[in-house]
Amino acid sequence: MIRDVQDILDLYAHHGSAPYGAETVSHLQHALQTATLAEEAGEMPEIVAACFLHDIASLQRLLPDGARSAEATFEQLAELFEPAVLEPIRLHVAAKRYLCLVEPDYRHQLSMPSQMSLDEQGGPMTASEAERFLHEEFAYDAVRLRRYDDQARKPDMQTLSLHHFGRVLDSLATVAMR
Ligand SMILES: [Fe+2]
Repeated sequence: MIRDVQDILDLYAHHGSAPYGAETVSHLQHALQTATLAEEAGEMPEIVAACFLHDIASLQRLLPDGARSAEATFEQLAELFEPAVLEPIRLHVAAKRYLCLVEPDYRHQLSMPSQMSLDEQGGPMTASEAERFLHEEFAYDAVRLRRYDDQARKPDMQTLSLHHFGRVLDSLATVAMR
């Protein structure tokens, strides 16, 4: 259960060594790398936080007492963060389907599990779906998050610390103590 930023940090500190899917990095490394790439690119703290948190639902799902669905994780996070943090995460699959439409090579650059899940997710967007997607307030943020995510799979990348991103999350949490 995520009630505050400390719960998020504890989750990554205690369980972040779980492998990130079939990749060669752990969940913690992947989160730190995605957020570090965003910060180094000069992104706003909301995007840096979104990058750190974007796979938290899959990490929670690995725990016996974790939320069972991405929706349940989102409900918990919605108590803490504004849409500017959460919406780029919620649009993660949409951004992937969008990029598969506008950059036909994008699909082949995805990891194998991500390529395989694409069809279940609806395949590349149609032109009209893409037009609707681009009207979403956080569509471009979601696309940039996707780009950092795609690069954040390097076993030896130097990153900023969990403590550092904890401070970023703290600065954005709307309810620090409940
Ligand atoms: Fe990811």
